[in-house]
Amino acid sequence: MTTTTDQAQASPPNDEGDLLLDARGVKVHFPIKRGVVFDKTIGHVYAVDGVDLQVRRGETYGLVGESGCGKSTLGKAIIGLEPPTEGTVSIDGTDVASLKGSELRRRRKDFQMVFQDPMSSLDPRQSVESLLVEGMRAHGLASDGKKTTARLRELLTAVGLPAAALKKYPHEFSGGQRQRIGIARALAVEPKLIVADEPVSALDVSVQAQVINLLEELQGEYDLTYLVIAHDLAVVRHISDRIGVMYLGGLVEEAAADDLYAQPLHPYTRALLSAVPVPDPEAEDRREQILLAGDLPSPSKPPAGCRFHTRCPWRQETRCDDERPQLRVVEIDGVASGHRVACHWAEQIESGEIQPQVVAPTATVGDLLAGEADGSDEG
Ligand SMILES: Nc1ncnc2c1ncn2[C@@H]1O[C@H](COP(=O)(O)OP(=O)(O)O)[C@@H](O)[C@H]1O
Ligand code: SF4
Ligand SMILES: [Mg+2]
Repeated sequence: MTTTTDQAQASPPNDEGDLLLDARGVKVHFPIKRGVVFDKTIGHVYAVDGVDLQVRRGETYGLVGESGCGKSTLGKAIIGLEPPTEGTVSIDGTDVASLKGSELRRRRKDFQMVFQDPMSSLDPRQSVESLLVEGMRAHGLASDGKKTTARLRELLTAVGLPAAALKKYPHEFSGGQRQRIGIARALAVEPKLIVADEPVSALDVSVQAQVINLLEELQGEYDLTYLVIAHDLAVVRHISDRIGVMYLGGLVEEAAADDLYAQPLHPYTRALLSAVPVPDPEAEDRREQILLAGDLPSPSKPPAGCRFHTRCPWRQETRCDDERPQLRVVEIDGVASGHRVACHWAEQIESGEIQPQVVAPTATVGDLLAGEADGSDEG
């Protein structure tokens, strides 16, 4: 077992409603190995490092964060594709890790994943019909030929493809159409939860909205619950009921989508949102970009204390460097009770009591080279 500081939340939300997904204290640590003979573990990638995540039945939860922060690994841990190093994942009241053999196969259909790149997740040698029937057959949903044919047509109609698509192969479709096939394949086995991992990142911007709208339409029709993963806040904004923001393996903020955009409280979320242009020209003029110092640290050497302290403009002398903040409800007037933040100083930052430091521009490679060229290496 590997140890890093724990980030268990102060207390689970008490307005949980009807939870479909309940993940607690999930960690996924990948060993870094060296040596041929002894296969020595010399460290770990702390890809997911203590995440609590609850999704209600019928809800869409948007999970956002920079590339490499652990979103896909968390998604895989949730649907049982990546065993957690620690923690539990239960779907519809059943601990996924406790499922074995036929019971696991039977329950597998309840949670499906839609991947970013439909081309690599669809076998190019299989026709659309065979791709769709494969999963249905594995779950005993394709025993009656007539019913299966009707079901295939229904699925294609649902995702906006013509019946003739059944006889075609993945390469005969556009990217957007292939993602529709990926969605139809997930739907074919009548899942309860769909984890959509960057479902539109590989698509043209003009097609992205169509696929997002399709996911939204299907949700009502098929009683689906979604965990939608994206590195782009704009993608999840309109489809999500709630949004969680991830940074270096942990959740740093979670709120109803509208609340998060109206009042981001964590410095990292503030910085992310400050980079998004707004359509209103006056608001755009007032928009102040928050610059972050330095690069994203490696998940194999996450900073101690608050993971964000190496880049945070509001970092304080006390607590930030050595105490990992819990995801907690804050006491700020007008902030909804479900809005949770992992920052020691969220209240003082919001009130203005703590002001951001001006981030000194980091020297660029170009500056360093220029310095070398004229021989002035001091300063
Ligand atoms: N199977 C694996 N073995 C080792 N490291 C991995 C593995 N999968 C992912 N990682 C690492 O874990 C971190 C999180 O990856 P990932 O979950 O894919 O992030 P995201 O989806 O947010 O871009 C990255 O540093 C990645 O390189
Ligand atoms: S705990 Fe400190 S370093 Fe972390 S986000 Fe809050 S102010 Fe910044
Ligand atoms: Mg990913």
